[in-house]
Amino acid sequence: MYKWIMFTLFGLAGLLIIFLVATGLPEKQEVAEQEPQFTVPEMAVDAEAAGQIFQSRCISCHGTDLQGGAGPALATVGSTLSKERIYTVIKEGRGGMPSFEKQLSEDEILTLTTWLSSLK
Ligand code: HEC
Repeated sequence: MYKWIMFTLFGLAGLLIIFLVATGLPEKQEVAEQEPQFTVPEMAVDAEAAGQIFQSRCISCHGTDLQGGAGPALATVGSTLSKERIYTVIKEGRGGMPSFEKQLSEDEILTLTTWLSSLK
């Protein structure tokens, strides 16, 4: 009797591990595929215009000198995130980062994106 209980328990544990591995793998692939499937149009960096939008909308969380605060530092964000990712984060938000789709025009988001992406 005892043998069968142990057998069942190990069996269930084994199934659980197989289940976790099987469901864990696709999740990892999803993360890898998150790179957005579009291209942010090329435009000239307008640091002055971008800086002004940044001053009024972003410094509360990212700091006056992009050093970070409630949000991460953005001083070299261009070297870690693609332009498309920066654009998507600003437009759609992520975690504690609010979405700015409704508060900024497409042009303003592009101006910010192009500027941030140039900071390496
Ligand atoms: C209410 C606070 C807040 C405001 C305002 C805010 N952010 Fe953020 N931002 C965050 C947080 C928190 C994160 C980290 C999100 C995460 O961990 O997924 C973040 C992440 C980011 C990232 C990605 C950084 C990285 O290394 O992954 C970018 C780019 C960014 N913000 C740009 C901006 C811009 C541009 C503005 C102004 C239009 C702005 N943020 C305004 C809080 C804020």
